[in-house]
Amino acid sequence: MMRQAANVLAFASFALADVQPTAPDLGVPFSITQYWGAYSPYYNAANYTAPPDGCTINQVNLLQRHGARYPTSSDGKDFKASAEQLQSAKSFNGSQYDFLSNWSYQLGEDDLVPFGAAQSYDAGQTHYTRYASLVNSSNLPFLRASDSERVVETALNWSAGFAFASSGALSSPQLTVIIDQSTNDTLDDNMCPNAASSDDETDAWKDVFAPSIEDRINNDAPGASIGKSDVANLLQLCPFETVAFEQPSPWCNLFTQDDFEGLEYYLDIDDFYSTGYGNSLGPVQGVGWVNELIARLTDQPVQDATQTNSTLDSDPSTFPLGQSFYADFTHDHEMIAIYSAIGIFPQSGNLSTSEADPNRTWFISRLVPFSARMIVERMDCGGTANLRILVNDAVQPLAFCGSGNGQCTVTDFVQSQSFARSNGNGVWSQCS
Ligand SMILES: *[C@@H]1O[C@H](CO)[C@@H](O)[C@H](O)[C@H]1NC(C)=O
Ligand SMILES: *[C@@H]1O[C@H](CO)[C@@H](O)[C@H](O)[C@H]1NC(C)=O
Ligand SMILES: *[C@@H]1O[C@H](CO)[C@@H](O)[C@H](O)[C@H]1NC(C)=O
Ligand SMILES: *[C@@H]1O[C@H](CO)[C@@H](O)[C@H](O)[C@H]1NC(C)=O
Ligand SMILES: *[C@@H]1O[C@H](CO)[C@@H](O)[C@H](O)[C@H]1NC(C)=O
Ligand SMILES: *[C@@H]1O[C@H](CO)[C@@H](O)[C@H](O)[C@H]1NC(C)=O
Ligand SMILES: *[C@@H]1O[C@H](CO)[C@@H](O)[C@H](O)[C@H]1NC(C)=O
Ligand SMILES: *[C@@H]1O[C@H](CO)[C@@H](O)[C@H](O)[C@H]1NC(C)=O
Ligand SMILES: *[C@@H]1O[C@H](CO)[C@@H](O)[C@H](O)[C@H]1NC(C)=O
Repeated sequence: MMRQAANVLAFASFALADVQPTAPDLGVPFSITQYWGAYSPYYNAANYTAPPDGCTINQVNLLQRHGARYPTSSDGKDFKASAEQLQSAKSFNGSQYDFLSNWSYQLGEDDLVPFGAAQSYDAGQTHYTRYASLVNSSNLPFLRASDSERVVETALNWSAGFAFASSGALSSPQLTVIIDQSTNDTLDDNMCPNAASSDDETDAWKDVFAPSIEDRINNDAPGASIGKSDVANLLQLCPFETVAFEQPSPWCNLFTQDDFEGLEYYLDIDDFYSTGYGNSLGPVQGVGWVNELIARLTDQPVQDATQTNSTLDSDPSTFPLGQSFYADFTHDHEMIAIYSAIGIFPQSGNLSTSEADPNRTWFISRLVPFSARMIVERMDCGGTANLRILVNDAVQPLAFCGSGNGQCTVTDFVQSQSFARSNGNGVWSQCS
């Protein structure tokens, strides 16, 4: 008991400031980076608070998105084409366009950028500092990653940061399982080919927010004749160049805060209708991971008939039970599917594609920025097994399994997860 009491105090006294961040300051106002949706550099949605008095964390389940990356190869081609379209204008009215005379597309493809690696490393440091009492040299976190280079590199950077923060007490946790994305994979949304894309919804919103920006830029740049898709592409060059080159991209200066709010909602809608509540085959793509979580929380074998690989999950070397720290590395669309399968960030209906509600609770930069993290903390509260869920350090209310104060018993949580336990109420069979 003495030891537990001391741990509670230790948690309370740690501040993020105890960790030396390695990720550089990008020089862009936070107020703008928040509008970059899934391309926002990581920021915490709330300050971490220790669990209530009398509760001791005894298991951590971390689910983390890869850090900041280059555009995907297909997006990159589109961004480059839109930029060159604008560069082809006969003239430009405004010094904000001057950089275009000597600009060329210099971004890589798909992979983590150094800033993204640094934010992942910093997450490892933070998590060691916060959860040091749960690990020791013979009980290191158990790591899995989806087999995409940026996700694997994120896991390795997180692991290095975790070990570094222990000041030599621990070696880097091994990345034990890397799951092929062409197979059964609970860390990727690769197994539901029949799920609709979000194109209809993002196109509808583009028709609302892009025309005035299109007109303004075409007025400033006669001969460019950019279209609405070019507007969306050029806006995204601001975040991607900024995180890649670690300085404010000149593309950011072509746009106003209103323009970025339009982009933000575009990205919010994109994820909502891809694997979130707006897609009838979205949440079911998170079910496999939720069933793995239930197995870890309850020390019982995995029961699932969706995305899990029974070969991996029935083998203690690839799916051990009874661990105190699990860390899984994944992608944003899979995290959104998992949030929606669990029932966090509940929505009263579909997001409008004609109007952005400023009071909405679905802000992708708070849900899945680069290097986003969901943590399920299991704790012993005077003999009762409770849990709480933090998304980017914000404690989720969990009204579906408790009073909405941010805690549930593990039993009530498992009970509440009937969607996952029923393999998505039969919806999975529609995926392929
Ligand atoms: C965290 O706490 C600091 C210091 O009190 C405060 O300035 C900051 O706004 C808080 N961050 C969040 C996300 O609430
Ligand atoms: C250039 O832009 C300024 C400010 O938007 C505007 O007042 C001016 O009329 C424009 N000039 C031309 C030649 O379009
Ligand atoms: C043009 O860009 C190149 C490469 O980015 C840079 O080295 C050079 O200084 C730039 N020239 C001007 C006039 O800005
Ligand atoms: C390491 O942690 C495990 C699990 O909490 C515990 O059983 C073991 O005694 C610890 N080992 C050392 C050397 O502290
Ligand atoms: C961190 O990520 C970078 C960029 O992807 C990679 O080059 C580096 O090897 C990673 N660090 C570790 C410790 O694996
Ligand atoms: C399951 O995992 C094993 C071990 O990694 C692999 O060989 C097999 O192809 C996977 N099967 C499916 C259906 O994903
Ligand atoms: C939400 O939108 C999706 C995709 O358009 C649609 O399939 C679903 O029926 C909508 N749900 C509601 C409650 O309107
Ligand atoms: C892979 O997933 C499919 C679809 O849910 C399932 O039928 C199959 O049994 C799974 N394979 C393994 C090895 O778990
Ligand atoms: C947003 O919420 C505020 C405070 O509750 C309210 O005054 C405002 O009318 C709401 N805005 C919209 C567009 O619903």
